[in-house]
Amino acid sequence: MMQKTLITILLLTCSCAYAAQASANAALANKPPMGWNSWNHFSTKVTDEVIRKQADAMVSSGMRDAGYEYINIDDAWEGTRDAQGFIHSNSKFPNMKALADYVHSKGLKLGIYSSPGPKTCAGYEGSYQHESQDAQTFADWGIDYIKYDLCTFREIMKKAGTPQKAHELMVNAYTVMHNALLVTGRPIVFSMCQYGFDAVWRWGATTGGNLWRTTADVKDNYERMASIGFSQAGLSPFAGPGHWNDPDMLEIGNGGMTTDEYRTHMTLWAMLSAPLIAGNDLTTMSQETLDILTNKEIIAIDQDALGIQGDRVSAEGPIEIWSKPLNNRAKAVALFNRNEYPLEITVDFKTMGFNGKVKARDLWLHKDLGILERKYTATVTGHGVVLLRVTASN
Ligand code: GLA
Repeated sequence: MMQKTLITILLLTCSCAYAAQASANAALANKPPMGWNSWNHFSTKVTDEVIRKQADAMVSSGMRDAGYEYINIDDAWEGTRDAQGFIHSNSKFPNMKALADYVHSKGLKLGIYSSPGPKTCAGYEGSYQHESQDAQTFADWGIDYIKYDLCTFREIMKKAGTPQKAHELMVNAYTVMHNALLVTGRPIVFSMCQYGFDAVWRWGATTGGNLWRTTADVKDNYERMASIGFSQAGLSPFAGPGHWNDPDMLEIGNGGMTTDEYRTHMTLWAMLSAPLIAGNDLTTMSQETLDILTNKEIIAIDQDALGIQGDRVSAEGPIEIWSKPLNNRAKAVALFNRNEYPLEITVDFKTMGFNGKVKARDLWLHKDLGILERKYTATVTGHGVVLLRVTASN
């Protein structure tokens, strides 16, 4: 009897500690996480020095002050396991703990990357069957964010026999790592990366995901960025404070798109309440790139206190109008032109619930447009966007 009571108390304490840690982790992602990740620009060439320099540049450029917080190491930091099974970083990362201390000393947080599979996507050591050990190692190093990338776990899923069993294996793999992270007691953002399989937005939060990739990898060209971004229509009900849809990281400043296209990228991600994880070289970026990444009025749309993801209001061929509810009964309204040449686009504010005159501000021009009647017409550049912040005028 005594033993049974003790076990019950232990279980209760344990699940309370879990619940407390889970809600602490969700609080970390109360707003879509903002930061930088090594993959889009540095790929497997990421090093300790790269990370330190990006952290320095995040501060000196003003990005930290604009809200960017995480410096995330993606794939290719991993070395081998020792005889006890503990993972070590490879020679490009001589001392992870010292690196975390450095990043923390800049007022920033450090993220890392692993996979539920035996190998990561770039062929490095994954966390398969070492989840608790790895979670503890990451916590001991001072890691604040982990991107957990399905990669070779797909091979294990293929052997499951049925799609249902494969799904269960995947859900379990993410749950196991999430629980292992909770046990460490260190608040760590859990970023799920499995490319949107099995409509992850429906169940990602139940496995502890603070964000989950909804698509395959972004690329630094308009077609890929736009096909990913616009394909997010309809996903708004699944995001909210603590758990976000993640249409992948930003390519702004990597050179493959025009300024108008990068503005569209930033606008679309802000409308989607997407994590804003820059993916360019912060040490060499142009003023134009910095201006896009640190446009405070656009960041405010992404980070709005309501945490409601925007969605598509209408599509007329290449013309898409999206809106996003904001705090204080305001709305962000985006007029996208997916054609290559300029188009005149008219928005009718009634279609998004405004019944009289409105007050509007253009967030790329940083210009008040004054009081508008029911409709507004703008000429939108090819692949470009006009983004308005709209409130009722009375
Ligand atoms: C996958 C992910 C990318 C990146 C690479 C690293 O492709 O989707 O974001 O992490 O793996 O190998």
